[in-house]
Amino acid sequence: MKLLLLNGPNLRLLGTREPGIYGSFTLADAEALAKATAERLGATLDAYQSDIEGELVTAIGQARGVYDGIVINPAAYTHTSVALRDAISAAAVPTVEVHISNTHKREEFRHVSYTAPVCIAQLQGFGLTGYALAVEGLIAYLTAQK
Ligand code: DQA
Repeated sequence: MKLLLLNGPNLRLLGTREPGIYGSFTLADAEALAKATAERLGATLDAYQSDIEGELVTAIGQARGVYDGIVINPAAYTHTSVALRDAISAAAVPTVEVHISNTHKREEFRHVSYTAPVCIAQLQGFGLTGYALAVEGLIAYLTAQK
């Protein structure tokens, strides 16, 4: 089972970015935890981060036929991007949306996700642990489909 982890804009700044909201772990920590979780459960995981919407759209499009599932933190594009939503829908690769913070406790513009309706699940508010939970949930979903 091959999984792809995608992280969106500004998540390369984790560790120093608003630690009161996002904690002090780094992007490398999140990618390493996701990878270790996948491997513990018999899967592999590649990780990619981009600040650029179009690059994320391309990565999702190219995942079809290559990856069995995607975990994505679309970051701010969650709340704006029809293009990412269409990419997830078009690729038809089972996708889990994850957020570090609980966006419902934050500004109202963060309460809407354009991407969640085309994902199999969304989880948020668990900080770093959310990356492990998202991978575990995705693997359980994919295993049940077989
Ligand atoms: C985020 C929440 C988004 O609202 C925000 O724009 C981010 C990070 C999260 O993981 O909590 O960049 O996706």
